[in-house]
Amino acid sequence: MPDYSTQSLARLVQPDRVHRNLYTDPAIFALEMERIFERIWIYVGHESQVRNPGDFFATRIGTKPVVMSRHSDGRVYVVHNQCAHRGVQVVAEDSGNAQEFRCCYHGWSYHTDGRIKNIPLRHAYGARVDVNDPKLAMVQVPRVQSYRGFVFASLAPTGPSLEDFLGHIATSLDDMVDRAPDGEIEIAGGVFKHGYDGNWKLYLENLLDAAHPLFVHQSSIEAAKVQDDAVASDGSGEIAIRQMRQNGASYGFWESQVGIWTYPNGHAFLGDYHDDAKLVAAMKDPNFRDYIEALEAKKGKAEAQRILEVRRWNTNIYPNVSFMSQFQQFRVVHPISVDRTVVYTYNFRLKGAPERMFRNTIAFANVVNGTGSLVLTDDLETYGRVGVGLASAGAEWLNIARGADTDKPDAHNGRRGKNSTSEIYLRNMYEAWLQYMTGTKPGLAAAAE
Ligand code: FES
Ligand SMILES: [Fe+2]
Repeated sequence: MPDYSTQSLARLVQPDRVHRNLYTDPAIFALEMERIFERIWIYVGHESQVRNPGDFFATRIGTKPVVMSRHSDGRVYVVHNQCAHRGVQVVAEDSGNAQEFRCCYHGWSYHTDGRIKNIPLRHAYGARVDVNDPKLAMVQVPRVQSYRGFVFASLAPTGPSLEDFLGHIATSLDDMVDRAPDGEIEIAGGVFKHGYDGNWKLYLENLLDAAHPLFVHQSSIEAAKVQDDAVASDGSGEIAIRQMRQNGASYGFWESQVGIWTYPNGHAFLGDYHDDAKLVAAMKDPNFRDYIEALEAKKGKAEAQRILEVRRWNTNIYPNVSFMSQFQQFRVVHPISVDRTVVYTYNFRLKGAPERMFRNTIAFANVVNGTGSLVLTDDLETYGRVGVGLASAGAEWLNIARGADTDKPDAHNGRRGKNSTSEIYLRNMYEAWLQYMTGTKPGLAAAAE
């Protein structure tokens, strides 16, 4: 396995190209887990998943299994999902409510904040185990912080605050929550899980890629063009057809109507690429009109208008989240190995909004995130073909140059593309990647050579 020094990592990322090993080398993947996923803030879950004491949700930070739980003190904890006795995964369910976590092997049990509760045959250990030792536990992740209900955790005991890490991209999370008339959102409607044989970075890259829909999604674009708007009897047809048709927007549209904005630490968002102004569409849709009325009643007319005029499509919070506030889609990336990735996609319900808004959310999820979706399957096929193509070991470098000469500064300490087809989001992610991987990011511990 090659050994990567800081200098050799720096050679892999250049201003307009990156080395193919970044997608194929298991040694790079191992370093990414250590220097990115085990060091910076990682999205873990949403507070609505652990509303009541004893509620828990099992997930991963990078490749490390953890459990997010609400303890009897009302606080949210994230603990390693590992028994202090012989290392067994303690929580095997995805989620639930429990009085305690009990290991299946020899019955050691833990409080829902991870502390040891009971050890069978305790007397046989004498003074050799100290039940107050924080390491004799399902060990707590050192830093856990929530931003407007979104829970992030860091395996590093020190580092920048969550607010500093998020910077201006926090406004996309604000947009997600602000759209709820009651000012609160909750995960609802289950989860779609999909996997692909490709590197984790491909997913984040694709979600901000304005140049791909016209080609990758050609078959559903053409099928949608010949359908009637109301093709689905459950009323979801309009959303499905609208979305699939819009994927066929011309280059001219992407280059004149849509923007892309990038920020420090690898974060970015793509502008909304739908050409039907929301407020105009709202006048035609009584459910949306009811929603606007509910929003105005709770927030006032001016604030409701400000909220509805935020026009963002996908937002990436590097390195494991891509979400879309307009239809309340939230996707969490789980790296498995250098060439295997699993993505969990969730839906949020806007509290205080008419129920039809959530039906729209689900209808939209079925179009873009469902495992039987006519759109998602195209993207998954493409990720797999990246893997096949890279295995041929042809061109050594992958090009990320589009728009590099016309990128401009943004008012919020970021940079934006001249238009949405700029690959600035790739250059921005790789700039952050290199800073994380070499420990040159201010506030991060230097990476070991
Ligand atoms: S490994 Fe968990 S109780 Fe023995
Ligand atoms: Fe796509």
